[in-house]
Order: sequence, then structure tokens, then C-alpha cells
Amino acid sequence: MTTKNVSTLIQSITHRLDAVGIEDAGIDARLLLRSAFGWSAAKQLGQLLDPPPENRLDDLESMVVRRESREPLQYITGSTEFYRRNFTVSESVLIPRPETEQLVVQTLAFVRERGIENPRIADICTGSGAIAISLALEMPASEVHATDISAAAFTVAQQNADDLNAELEMHEGDLLDPLSGQFDVIVSNPPYILASAMPSLQAEVTREPSLALDGGKDGLDVIRPLFEGILARLKPTNSAAYIEIDPAIEDAVLALALKTFPHAGISLLTDFAGLTRCVSIEHA
Ligand SMILES: C[S@@+](CC[C@H](N)C(=O)[O-])C[C@H]1O[C@@H](n2cnc3c(N)ncnc32)[C@H](O)[C@@H]1O
Repeated sequence: MTTKNVSTLIQSITHRLDAVGIEDAGIDARLLLRSAFGWSAAKQLGQLLDPPPENRLDDLESMVVRRESREPLQYITGSTEFYRRNFTVSESVLIPRPETEQLVVQTLAFVRERGIENPRIADICTGSGAIAISLALEMPASEVHATDISAAAFTVAQQNADDLNAELEMHEGDLLDPLSGQFDVIVSNPPYILASAMPSLQAEVTREPSLALDGGKDGLDVIRPLFEGILARLKPTNSAAYIEIDPAIEDAVLALALKTFPHAGISLLTDFAGLTRCVSIEHA
């Protein structure tokens, strides 16, 4: 990589990423450079007209090559932000999305509105642990449990809990099977992509674990047993479950929720883009 200064280096990386069809090439170029050089945004701005550190250029080049292959930026930098904290991510876990923060917001609002002082909360299909850890940190008086069937994801979630000093109980296993007792709130972002949609996912998404994405033929392979588990483990009063879904399966999820939870208030919630993103199951 030959270059004059940081600014021209960013331009040349931007062109390379743009050429392979990456949408926000300029943003990615800046973030890769900051990650390779260990710089903050402010430091990067201050160095724009200076030569880049020679001893970091090989690292930067290998990161750019990975991004050109459409590997997600967050796997290359090794972290992502969720609910204002940094979480370690690797190819073993789904990269937490901003729309999933809604599950955290809904849970915090429910617990506050209902005045539940020491809520017992479960996050099923925890992946990197982003939801469970955020809830444990936002509500220190809560008892949070998290489960995931993937041993590799479980390791990442535990690392995040340690790094962020979050107190919660992690369980490796199938859905709610490893849990005992009943919960005030159950949240989950399960795999819900229609199997027929898997081959046409964005290039970056195909690099994420299919165990985290594939919901089977009708998108409900995991949601069906998840609902059964929730039925058994959600307190019958003053309790709620919030499950992230894809708009493509909203009718089927709504029908299943109405059938499984006849005594609960069921509604579909939209994300900031106006798309149905969550089914809410609340008991008075
Ligand atoms: C869509 S990802 C969600 C990860 C994280 N909660 C988030 O929102 O970023 C789904 C997760 O479910 C896990 N999973 C899939 N099937 C499962 C099952 N039967 N029991 C528990 N976890 C499962 C996958 O390993 C993956 O980590």
C-alpha cells in the first residue's frame, strides 16, 4: 500500500471498497483505518494530513482485503456497538443489529411501568449476549439468565459478560430447557429467516452462522418450540415476552401467538423503519 497521507489513504481504500459494491465504503474505510491504527475518531481527524504509521500498514492491508471479500466489518474489527456498549463479535455469533435494541427498550419499559422490583428475566438464543448483558447492566436488581445452543456463541457471550462486568447466568442448551422456575420477562431474537430466502441474503449476512438465521421452511422452526417453552416458563400474571420476528412471517407468528397464549394481550410492534419487528405477549 503506497500512500502520501492519511486522507489519501482513506480515499484509496474507499475506492477499493466501492468497486466491490460496498454501500458505505467511505465509512468502512475510516473504521478499518481506525481499527488497524488503534485510533479514536478525533485522533483520525487530527492526523488526516500526516503520513500514516508505516508499521501498521500491513495490518490495514489485510483488513481491507478481508472487507473486499465482503466479510462483515464487525468481524474484521472484532466488535460492534449495542445499546451504547461495545460487544466482542466473531464469526461464531450474529452481529447484533440496532433494531434488536427494541427488545431491551420494551423490557425496561415493561418492568418500570409494572413496578417489578427484582425482575427475573430470560434471554433465549442470546448469541453474543448483547440483549441479556444490556438488561443485566441496565437493571442491576434483576436476575438475568441467557441460553444458546451453540457452544461457540456461548463462549463469546461469556467473554462479553466478563469484559463488561455483567452479572448473569449463562446456560448452554436448547431454548428454555436449561432453565428452571418462572420469569417476569422472556425476550428472544431467534433464527427466523425463511429457508427460501437464505440463498438471496446480502453477501455479508451469508458470512453469519446459519444456525443464527435459518428459521426453516415457514420461518417458525425455532419459534414454535420457543412459544411452548415461554408458555411453561412465563409467570401467568404481570409478565411479558418480546420476540423479534421478520415482517415476512408476521401473519403466521400472530396466529400462532393468539393460539398459544389465549389469555395474553398480543400485539405486533414496528421498528424505526416502520417494519413489523417484534411480537409482544403481555399478561395483565
Ligand atoms: C438471530 S441470533 C440472535 C443473537 C442475539 N440474541 C442477537 O440478537 O444479536 C439467534 C441465536 O440463536 C441460537 N440458537 C439457534 N437455535 C437455538 C436453540 N434451539 N436453542 C438455543 N439457541 C439457539 C443461535 O446459536 C444464535 O446465537
